[in-house]
Amino acid sequence: MCGIVGILGQHEAAPMLVEALKRLEYRGYDSAGIATVNDGALDRRRAVGKLVNLSDLLVHEPLAGKSGIGHTRWATHGAPNLINTHPHQTRRVAVVHNGIIENYRDLRADLAKAGVRHQTETDTETVALLAQHYLDEGANPEEAARRTIARLEGAYALAFLFDGESDLMIVARKGSPLAIGHGTDEVYIGSDAIALAPMTDRVTYLEEGDCAVLTRSSITITDPDGNPVTREERTIQLDAARVDKAGHKHFMSKEIAEQPTVISETIAAYVVSNASDIKLPGDGIDFTEINRLTMASCGTAYYACLTAKYWFEQLAGLPVEIDFASEFRYRAPPVTDGTAALFVSQSGETADTLAALRYCEGKAQSILSVTNVPQSSIARESDLSMPIHAGAEIGVASTKAFTCQLTVLFLLALKAAHARGRITDEGLRAKLEAVRGLPAILNQAMGVEEHVRSISQRLAESRDALFLGRGLMFPIALEGALKLKEISYIHAEGYASGELKHGPIALIDEKMPVVVLAPRNALFDKTVSNMQEVMARGGNVILITDAAGARDASDGVWQTIVMPDVDFDLTPILYALPVQFLAYHTAVTKGTDVDQPRNLAKSVTVE
Ligand code: M6R
Repeated sequence: MCGIVGILGQHEAAPMLVEALKRLEYRGYDSAGIATVNDGALDRRRAVGKLVNLSDLLVHEPLAGKSGIGHTRWATHGAPNLINTHPHQTRRVAVVHNGIIENYRDLRADLAKAGVRHQTETDTETVALLAQHYLDEGANPEEAARRTIARLEGAYALAFLFDGESDLMIVARKGSPLAIGHGTDEVYIGSDAIALAPMTDRVTYLEEGDCAVLTRSSITITDPDGNPVTREERTIQLDAARVDKAGHKHFMSKEIAEQPTVISETIAAYVVSNASDIKLPGDGIDFTEINRLTMASCGTAYYACLTAKYWFEQLAGLPVEIDFASEFRYRAPPVTDGTAALFVSQSGETADTLAALRYCEGKAQSILSVTNVPQSSIARESDLSMPIHAGAEIGVASTKAFTCQLTVLFLLALKAAHARGRITDEGLRAKLEAVRGLPAILNQAMGVEEHVRSISQRLAESRDALFLGRGLMFPIALEGALKLKEISYIHAEGYASGELKHGPIALIDEKMPVVVLAPRNALFDKTVSNMQEVMARGGNVILITDAAGARDASDGVWQTIVMPDVDFDLTPILYALPVQFLAYHTAVTKGTDVDQPRNLAKSVTVE
């Protein structure tokens, strides 16, 4: 993870670096730091914790200089303390890094033989020490950087700044994204173009293995073999305004509340105006040529895929394989002819998901992706990239991105069902009308918040919680458990209801809250039987159902949350809402850091 930025500018760099880092804080907030070259001399400021601590430090100890690099850290190697905070600096070079240098122990050992001592626990310090070592051997800065980069294994986006060189920055990318921003007699770099939004909309993305030598007036890019290359400059649309909480206490609360609106935008982007068809970007995909779908993603995006598996299998009759991207990429699964590979990622930069996509390149018939960032690596490397139109999601806990992902995936499953002759024109139209009714139903469902908030007061006292669901509700049970644990730190597990008696039922006692997701559909009676098994053992059930379900099964239940009626295929999108509220209000009651929970980052760019 981590975010890196850099500027060779005409104005003081420190405030611009901090502003750019603010936009990358979603990549980690364990510590932050900047280094500049001022009057030819390297200097740095660093602070542990969130970026605001660095800003405060800079008020008391300003840092001058018009060239600089910056870093926001998600700790991989070494504790999140000051000594491990980037930039890592030697006498003549400062380095910021996103990624993991896998051979840093070997490099350390080599440096130790040459009498070079490490002071930190990080892999990145090795990069700075190696560059210093080559400078000491007489290499010029470019040679030192190139010789250093040539020895690195693993993943990196790197920026080097040199003492005595106020018009030089050297950057490199392998496995971690890096964008170069073009200004007027200025140049910028960032892990994500969003960091550069206030400064420029003209961006060049480095490709795998590229290295670039930057001055204010020139950008020289070379490929992994050292050959000069030209990479396309694009003008991209980025919102330069900082996203605000719009009166909400937390971004997560704002993002939950936005769902009816953003989902209506998602629908408008894909459903043709008379609701007779679904339009996909570009040439779309011909599902008559596809006989298998393979999906791989991480976290909440994985649960979106798991939900979509039910839709693609039941509606389109398409066999689906699904895996965590981190498992998929090393499992070496056969990807046979006629397979479409589908990757879902809010950020579009998740390292494991990107690696899984790259594994499928040249093997899958078609590579599809569903992301919230159209400029992201996953979107750019797909044959068909489907944006979810959720708008910036700032809270680490994914909410609106999840329901927008589900909406796109449901529409894609309908498209497949129609193309494969599993649903008639009339059937498609009826489903699309149901989809178009979804924002209004979600709006109505917002009314459950107060009830959920009152339940959360008690839930906040629990040490553990279980979430149960069958069929389309199983992924939502998993998602509910993930949401609760990641922001309230309550241990929570999601189970397929039918699995309860195969082990987890041993956990049930009067202290165990059990959230049961059960709209009154064909599986309702089966789920209710499992719920009875919980209640018979003293478990406190929170039943989330519709009016018919509440009427038939509320007896003996601790709390019943009643949801509006909706087409059964769309229940995952609607029932995501109460589990989001449950996690949110429990976390608020416990007083945890809702938007930036401990140990987490919004975008996981290391494996
Ligand atoms: O950006 P992505 O959708 O690829 O991220 C995947 C997961 O890291 C993400 O969904 C994570 O699980 C969320 N924090 C869950 O709320």
